[in-house]
Amino acid sequence: MTNRVSIIDWSEQLATGVPRIDAEHRRLIDLINELGVLHRSQATVAQLRAALADLRNYAEYHFQTEADLMQIHPVDAGNRRVHLAAHQGFVDQLERVNALVATDPAAVIEHLLAFMMKWLLHHITGVDARMAREIISLEMGISDGDGGDGGANFTRGSSIP
Ligand SMILES: [Fe+2]
Repeated sequence: MTNRVSIIDWSEQLATGVPRIDAEHRRLIDLINELGVLHRSQATVAQLRAALADLRNYAEYHFQTEADLMQIHPVDAGNRRVHLAAHQGFVDQLERVNALVATDPAAVIEHLLAFMMKWLLHHITGVDARMAREIISLEMGISDGDGGDGGANFTRGSSIP
């Protein structure tokens, strides 16, 4: 009896404007929804652990993508620090859940799904959106005319939402 209701649905409100980040967020959301399906189908602890491992592996891959982007594009150092700490918090939570899941699988996964839904929506629309704005601005070379060569091309289009 599999209930197919999603934990999180992708919507344009979650788009950051950086295609690679958006594609990876969609995949992350798919994996969370797959865990939700497993949870509702009374999966075994072994199946839940396998789904948690997939989720963790993909989350770490995705967080590395963002860390690399923040390295390539010199975003604000404080923003970067806060962002990387948030990623670590997510991984730590997954680790705690993995250690606890055998004790009461249904309750532990229920709690994790609620946590991830809130965390991801808050994270994507908060620090990820801010990072994307910084990256896009840096890529466009937006400046107040410090260099002079080419900067003028972006003067008109410099109001990135
Ligand atoms: Fe992020």
